[in-house]
Amino acid sequence: MLHLPKMRPCILATGGCGYIGSHVVVELVAAGYQVVILDNFENSTHKTAARIKRLCKRHVTIVEGDVCDRALVEDTLLQYNVNAVIHLAGKKAVGESMADPILYFHDNLLGAIALLEAMRNCDVGRIVFSSSATVYGASEMQPLAETASTCVLNPYGRTKLMIEEMIDDVTASAQDFKAVSLRYFNPVGAHPSGQIGENPTDVPNNLFPYVSQTAAGIRDKVRVFGGDYETPDGTGVRDYIHVVDLAKGHVAALDYLFSDHAARHERINLGTGTGYSVLEVIEAFSKASGTRVAYEIVARRPGDVAVSLADATFAKTLLGWEATHNLTRMCKDHWAFQCGGKPDEKDSSFTRQLHFSENVLSGS
Ligand SMILES: NC(=O)c1ccc[n+]([C@@H]2O[C@H](COP(=O)([O-])OP(=O)(O)OC[C@H]3O[C@@H](n4cnc5c(N)ncnc54)[C@H](O)[C@@H]3O)[C@@H](O)[C@H]2O)c1
Repeated sequence: MLHLPKMRPCILATGGCGYIGSHVVVELVAAGYQVVILDNFENSTHKTAARIKRLCKRHVTIVEGDVCDRALVEDTLLQYNVNAVIHLAGKKAVGESMADPILYFHDNLLGAIALLEAMRNCDVGRIVFSSSATVYGASEMQPLAETASTCVLNPYGRTKLMIEEMIDDVTASAQDFKAVSLRYFNPVGAHPSGQIGENPTDVPNNLFPYVSQTAAGIRDKVRVFGGDYETPDGTGVRDYIHVVDLAKGHVAALDYLFSDHAARHERINLGTGTGYSVLEVIEAFSKASGTRVAYEIVARRPGDVAVSLADATFAKTLLGWEATHNLTRMCKDHWAFQCGGKPDEKDSSFTRQLHFSENVLSGS
């Protein structure tokens, strides 16, 4: 049975203008939730905010500010009668976290502390936290179930694991506090409209944006790290998940938290359980984009594992959720966003030309 407030429940999405957050917000609104976004726009733009609002076709409130600002978070929770929080805001680049761990401890940990404190002070007792498969470290045991041991390999991963553990303590201390930590595998793709997607402002850290920018001519070729792994074609295998599937997983997690059988704190993998190698991704992307994506195989990258795959069984049994989009669809949607998506007649700046150059420029 669902214990939903009489009004449509209101969800605060911290980081709701980011890559994953924007898709989560669109799916939340489609599922009937009211949404308030809190974002400081350090990795998003007001143009993205406008697109989110257009895609939602219903009112979405956007509060510009930092999740570390507890007073602001409290004001937002009270002003909008928030019933639950999805906490996506934070920093996410592994390399940057190794170069500047304190920055990651500051933003990710202090952000979570401020948010949890504000939730306690305002009696908001449900949270979905954006965790990551990075908490499994370089485990050789595949596929990875939620019961697999955790291992921290870098400061970014440490913040994810520490926040999960902080949530353990908070849920243990307060009967009415319920949480789900979603451990994402490799989110890729974009909204089918092509209006929102991943738009790295730097050299992409992840494979999909790199391949996509290579197909678009922004980069010469993809450097494939390692061609001698014990995998069918020698390149690393990962569990890629379409960002729209991932977003729907958040809606399922919230529905679960509003049910009468919600446990205190569940960790749940969001992946497909199917792996694709780097070369399979390059091949599929070449087909989707109609461009031969050039690549070269270089030495392995320290810390990388041959295979990382989710055991996605728990999400299916507990939440009734499973991913439905295949690799072809991931590539097609990612490419449509790279190319600017479908023009929106309501916004004259929404031309293919402008979109394309926006994506191109921010990726250089
Ligand atoms: N993208 C991935 O591959 C991936 C994988 C696993 C986990 N995650 C986690 O999912 C979450 C969302 O990731 P994403 O890819 O959408 O990242 P993103 O950078 O696109 O989105 C994060 C959003 O949060 C905002 N933000 C950052 N710090 C903030 C702060 N202190 N206060 C308010 N807003 C702030 C940014 O402006 C941005 O809009 C992150 O917590 C990330 O660690 C992402």
